[in-house]
Amino acid sequence: MSPPSILGNCKTVLKCNTAGENYADINWDELGFSLVPTDYMYVMKCAKGDKFSQGSILPYGNLEINPSAGILNYGQGIFEGLKAHRTEDGCILLFRPDENAQRMKRSADRLCMPSPSNDQFVNAVKQIVLANKRWVPPSGKGSLYIRPLLMGTGALLGLAPAPDYTFLIYCSPIGSYHKDKKRLISSLLIITGALNLKVEDKLYKAISGSGGTGGIKSVTNYAPVYTAITDAKANGFSDVLFLDSATGKYIEEASACNVFVVKGNASFTPAIDGTILPGIMGKSIIEIAIDLGYRVLERAVSVEEMLGADEMFCTGTAMVVNSIASVTYKKTRMDYKTGPEALSAKLRTTLVGIQTGCVEDKKSWTVLVD
Ligand SMILES: Cc1ncc(COP(=O)(O)O)c(C=O)c1O
Repeated sequence: MSPPSILGNCKTVLKCNTAGENYADINWDELGFSLVPTDYMYVMKCAKGDKFSQGSILPYGNLEINPSAGILNYGQGIFEGLKAHRTEDGCILLFRPDENAQRMKRSADRLCMPSPSNDQFVNAVKQIVLANKRWVPPSGKGSLYIRPLLMGTGALLGLAPAPDYTFLIYCSPIGSYHKDKKRLISSLLIITGALNLKVEDKLYKAISGSGGTGGIKSVTNYAPVYTAITDAKANGFSDVLFLDSATGKYIEEASACNVFVVKGNASFTPAIDGTILPGIMGKSIIEIAIDLGYRVLERAVSVEEMLGADEMFCTGTAMVVNSIASVTYKKTRMDYKTGPEALSAKLRTTLVGIQTGCVEDKKSWTVLVD
């Protein structure tokens, strides 16, 4: 298993026009994970049956929306999340934005919505990042979180797809997911705050089988987890791990991230079968783990198997890769390996390194915004 090849001083070989420009006047060391409004948002509209065509960059602000809009009444809305990072020489990189474009299209198809083409999606993301470039944190201080939304904004009364749609992107600079627990090693942000998960055995996140909506990023998938998370947090846990709703025997995912268990030289993650969101970080981590010499299997992972594992970690855009210190199932608590020797630490170093230009991007995952 060879360690990732860190490029000297994190200098990329990229040439870009965004280097050496002005930054927004905020304290970048204080960035957390709450919304910091930026200057602009991207808006593109389309009627049912039409195609999205021309979008515009507008000042960031409130939307005017009809009370009878499909999104407000029937939850016809989906979203995405991705990040832009500064390299040490000031260039701006996106990470696999085409994957977000494709996932948005799959989500839109499931909810009977028109969606922007892949090119429209990626171009819109580039445009809004450039418009807000002074909000992309300096290298090592965080990233610009980009939130594309697709909503049924046309008015209707009966239960049906809305007559009009709005594709919108807004952004916010963010620091580390677990800011208090971060430290910098070789310019790579290493998160040391491992998670303590509680297995939720009464409330379920998604209908088992491929007929539900657990596999798409629908806005309606998120508020239903609030009860379980609020309860878990009140009892000192960081997040909730959901089980399959058919048998309650297999793990699925946490509230907003995918999970992996590690045993020996193998890693297992629940297969994506319609109940779990196909995560872009998880997909990338699988490739990196295989490159590092690990066996990765995507298949059902039982609670029993999880409790016998050596290590566990979560993957998701916000946290990238985060180790799991413990999982509590009913009255049993299992502690897992964490720290620099854990697989999750190696995976994180490589993935964050690629995102920030510190590790050579051999897979062409990054896209320069210029
Ligand atoms: C329910 C759920 N699962 C998994 C993920 C991880 O997906 P990704 O790696 O694309 O961020 C997310 C985050 O978007 C999520 O909301």
